[in-house]
Amino acid sequence: MLKGEQVYARCMACHALAFDRVGPRHCGLIGRRAGSVPGFDYSAAMKRSKIVWDEKTLDRFLAGPLKMVPGSTMTYDGISDRRERADLIAYLKQAGQTAECTKR
Ligand code: HEC
Repeated sequence: MLKGEQVYARCMACHALAFDRVGPRHCGLIGRRAGSVPGFDYSAAMKRSKIVWDEKTLDRFLAGPLKMVPGSTMTYDGISDRRERADLIAYLKQAGQTAECTKR
């Protein structure tokens, strides 16, 4: 099990990989434009942000979501430990390749 999977437990209060909850699904996240999951009700701030999610943008966002996207409805303080962020991003990349995300 990747260490990042344990960190992802904090995200699962609001997110799942394969379906939308309070937050949008995370399957397909890497390479996706922010605010682009069809049918998910994003904040105007997220839709306007023009971010593309990759290792760098995720690292910045997860360190302080509201600092990077003021007005976002992701009311989460962020992860201050850069090692934990790196582990989490590695997990998100790997999870996108698993059957949970690639089936259908
Ligand atoms: C309190 C609930 C909550 C928690 C906890 C939370 N999120 Fe979110 N997340 C949201 C919401 C709501 C949005 C939509 C934000 C918007 O539209 O401004 C979001 C959006 C996102 C986005 C943008 C996705 C897209 O499709 O553009 C990413 C990336 C993200 N979250 C990652 C995470 C990760 C990783 C964690 C765990 C460290 C996490 N979130 C924890 C609620 C949460």
